[in-house]
Parts: sequence; structure tokens; C-alpha cells
Amino acid sequence: MKSGIGQATGKIVLMGEHAVVYGKKAVALPFFSVGIKTTINDIEGPIRIESACYTGLLKDAQKAIPGLKYLIEKTLEHLNIPTKNLEIMIDSSIPAQRGLGSSASVSVSVVRSLFNKYDQELDNKTLSDLVFLAETIHHNNPSGLDATVIIEESFISFEKDKGLKHIDSNLKGYLIVADTGMFGNTKESVSNVQERLKREPEKTKEAIDNLGKLSEEAIHDIESGNLEHLGKLMTSAHDKLKNIGVSNETLDRLVTSALKNNALGAKLTGGGNGGCMIAITDTMVDAKNIVDALLEQGAKHTWIYHLKEL
Ligand code: PMV
Repeated sequence: MKSGIGQATGKIVLMGEHAVVYGKKAVALPFFSVGIKTTINDIEGPIRIESACYTGLLKDAQKAIPGLKYLIEKTLEHLNIPTKNLEIMIDSSIPAQRGLGSSASVSVSVVRSLFNKYDQELDNKTLSDLVFLAETIHHNNPSGLDATVIIEESFISFEKDKGLKHIDSNLKGYLIVADTGMFGNTKESVSNVQERLKREPEKTKEAIDNLGKLSEEAIHDIESGNLEHLGKLMTSAHDKLKNIGVSNETLDRLVTSALKNNALGAKLTGGGNGGCMIAITDTMVDAKNIVDALLEQGAKHTWIYHLKEL
């Protein structure tokens, strides 16, 4: 039988991470500079997985990749296909646990590849429902933001209970993404915020509310193309994320360095406590200077993303 192929991009949370877990608005965009391709071939015998984080039989994968194992079993059940005779190869250029959407992207590409192999139509609702099964195991109580932006492949605003809205972006400029090289643990970050909310309810709630308001304002700036004001909102969001304890010394150092080098704004992105930071600027010259400064400050990898392309 034919091979099955499924692809998915990375994602960037521009505004509203963590606040989105509490029903506030977040803004995210697909990150096409990185991605995942899953290829499925027929083999004889039990299902085999080949990927950077696990290579071996699916039945032995419970400890290493519990979410993905569950997702593959549930997707095959949905397609009415027996759980055997497949080799699933996952090829990723998304660094794992850096807030760039690696886990949701793996799930999306795997489901797409299975549907593709068996020539089944896949609508976004079915894809989202299946991917959510794995995300729940990865993240405990995921807002659904990651999977949604990766499935939609467009600039979106997102609210947990109301779902997504496409944003018509008129931004012209450059988004710089820098990887600290440190693993961020989203599950842990999310539960730390939960604990802080119990410990310091008023201050934490205020920060979360403000993060939601900054996302609302950011949507207007994206639509009107006001990069300068958007930058101010991003830097302000970083301060609030710092206040709820999801930044760290490395992220703060990279944010400060980007701002010193003419960035219009900078912040951490995603779960935090490691992972990546982002900055925006309006010229390629500034973008390159910011990248040089970030690398000098210890960033392990950087990307310059042209916002016009979205
Ligand atoms: O998966 P990450 O690290 O990009 O984090 C996603 C954003 C959070 O708001 C921190 C979690 C969530 O479920 O929305």
C-alpha cells in the first residue's frame, strides 16, 4: 500500500500565554521556519516508531511518549484499522520543549499521515479532537492554543471557551526568535502559576487579567500594522509574565539585550522557564544586529521571521 505523509508547522505565542489557561485571550501565529514530517510505511508485525525522542515498538512506548502512543491507538481505532503492520517515522526540525509547539505539531503530523495513508478526508474538527487527546496527557489542562494555531496555519486570536478568530495581519517587519537551549516544562510552569494563584490570589489574578487585556490591544495593532505599539505591549507582557514567575535569568537577559539593540519589543514565548524568547523590529539591519547580540548573550539558535509572509 502507499506511504502516508503528514506535515505540520511550529508556532509562536505572540501574546497571552498562561493567561489563556484562565480563559483570557491569546494571540499566536504559525512558525513556518520549523516543522515536522511524518511518513508511514507498511511493515510486517507490531507498530514501530522512529523519532528523535523514541525509537522502538509502539507497545513499549508508554513511558517515553504516552500521549503519542494513545493518539496513534485512538486514531487507528477511529479509522477502523488494526494496530499493527506499520512503521511511523517522525522527522522534526522543531526543538522539543522550547515553546515552539513541538508536541502539538508531532500530533498533528501523525494524525494527518494516518488519514493520508488510508485516503480518508480529515476535517479540522476531527483533527483537533484527536490531537487534544494527546495534548491532555502532555499538558494536563491544555488551553488548546498550540494545536489550534498549528492546525489553522494562520494568525489567530484564541479563547479557551470561545475558540479561534482569524486575524487579518497588516504587520510589516521582522520577528526574531531565540532559543535559550534550556528545556521549558510547560506542565510544571502551568502548575506553578496555579499555585501562585492560591498563594497570592490578588496580585496573580491582576497580572493574568492584564495579560488578557494586552492581547486584546495587540490584535488592533496587528490589524492596523502598528509594529511600534505592538512592541511596547510585548515588553509589558514580559514584565507581567515575570511577575507570575514564568521567566528566568536567561530569558530576562536575552529580552534586555534585544531591547538594547533597537528591538521595538521583546518577551518570552510559550510556557517559559527556559524555551524561547521573541523580539520584533522593522528593519533587517536591526534584526541582524539583535540576532548577533542574542548569540553573544548565549542564545543557542536564532531565526529571523519575515512577518509580511503571513
Ligand atoms: O506549549 P507551550 O510551552 O508553547 O505553552 C503553551 C501556552 C501555555 O499558555 C503556557 C499553555 C496552554 O495550554 O495554553
